[in-house]
Amino acid sequence: MTIDVRLGIDEPAPETVAVGVDPSGPALDGVPTQVLPVSGRALVEQFVAESDPSTKPGDVRELPLPGELPARVLLAGLGASTPADLRLVGAGIARAAGGDVGVGIAVAGDELAALAEGLLLGGYRFDARPGKRPAARAWLVCSDDASAVSRGIAYGRGAAWARDLANTRAPTKTPTWMARTAAETLSPLGVRVSIREANWLAEQSFGGTLAVGGSSVLPPCLVDARWRPSGATAHLVVVGKGITFDTGGYNLKPGASMKTMYTDVAGGAAALGALHVVAALRVPVAVTVLVPVAENAVSGSAMRPGDVIRHHGGRTTEILNTDAEGRLVLADALAFAVARLRPDAVVDIATLTGGIKVALGTSAGGLFTPSDELAAALSRAGDDTGEPLWRMPLVDDYAELLSSNIADANNSSGQPQAVTAAMFLRPFAGHTAWAHLDIAGPARAASDAGLVTRGATGFGARLLARWIEAHAVG
Ligand code: BES
Ligand code: MN
Ligand code: ZN
Repeated sequence: MTIDVRLGIDEPAPETVAVGVDPSGPALDGVPTQVLPVSGRALVEQFVAESDPSTKPGDVRELPLPGELPARVLLAGLGASTPADLRLVGAGIARAAGGDVGVGIAVAGDELAALAEGLLLGGYRFDARPGKRPAARAWLVCSDDASAVSRGIAYGRGAAWARDLANTRAPTKTPTWMARTAAETLSPLGVRVSIREANWLAEQSFGGTLAVGGSSVLPPCLVDARWRPSGATAHLVVVGKGITFDTGGYNLKPGASMKTMYTDVAGGAAALGALHVVAALRVPVAVTVLVPVAENAVSGSAMRPGDVIRHHGGRTTEILNTDAEGRLVLADALAFAVARLRPDAVVDIATLTGGIKVALGTSAGGLFTPSDELAAALSRAGDDTGEPLWRMPLVDDYAELLSSNIADANNSSGQPQAVTAAMFLRPFAGHTAWAHLDIAGPARAASDAGLVTRGATGFGARLLARWIEAHAVG
């Protein structure tokens, strides 16, 4: 979906017009008569008086209209018209419209941005056949200052791109394709993207990434994307898991849990999506996104249970389960980030464990960090953007589950998997402020609902962008 602000007088009015409803009735003040003529307004007033449509944000009732009028009006509950409500309103309208829609909800500032963001989130569609992706448009009528809408559009587009990356199927989404797509998309926004190939990974001792990627005929790589605005005071690093497909390796997944594993790149996609938002809005914070990209396949060159690998910086890991591959690639990139980039904070984001999905379901992500400050900042960003995080513990008593007789740690430490996976990652961040987001639950949605569309949700892109924005000074 694309967004045009203000309904141009010359535009032919769209077939579908959305109007807000709150407990006082239909909010027709903001709807120009070119969009909905007087006779249509009367029908809307009458319908609302008689049928009392829901005012819950996201709920939409359809009213077909006769004659020369728009073919239908969508009556969208406005809730309390907060930004969070208007994001849901926008998503509900886009979903119900299913095509072009004139949105006669006149708001300004943050609410307008939220409405636009919601329209893009709810109007998102993925189809592997590019010709089948609908090119729907929304015309937003706004009361005065339309400048805020660009914020919402940037957030909506960043999330949509993250969804596209995660929804793309493995035959297209090779590690090289991921890296090139990142470079082609982000470079025009002023982001410097370097693609580090297998020889670089070997020189830098990215043993986890090479061990996972060595299973596939498609070579692994590292995407290193840097946004360096002038005047930045903070430098933040986001590391995203970029597994283009996770078969489990020799510890093969059963078919039912394997078939959606093209979205195992969702953490990396969210990290890149956040950078897309940040660069589009020219946020004055230095950001580096690192995405180790590899396919976890089965082959004669695949890693085996019992193998020992060496990460960047020298820590070693004994592989006990080839399906616990995400932490192996993240470990390399976290160690590299901390040693080479010396950031103020590093956050990693990954579809890391089925355990977090059992614990939190699909609406919230797991947040692990020893830092109360980082926990508060990330939770806040999650609440602001409608991508909630729930803080989970790092439990010292479980440290022994991570031990190995022949290496610094093992990669498959048993229950509770989400916690021990986070504890595996912790040493790689050294003394740098670090948080880990396990998004295995909310990275996918089973159906269209709220802000999400069935399939990859882009979860994390908007919350990370918000967290980064909060570091901008002045
Ligand atoms: N990519 C999976 C985690 C996952 C599960 C993501 C379900 C999305 C939905 C990850 O690589 C994995 O396989 N984790 C294992 C770890 C175990 C072998 C220690 C898991 O959670 O079962
Ligand atoms: Mn796995
Ligand atoms: Zn995985």
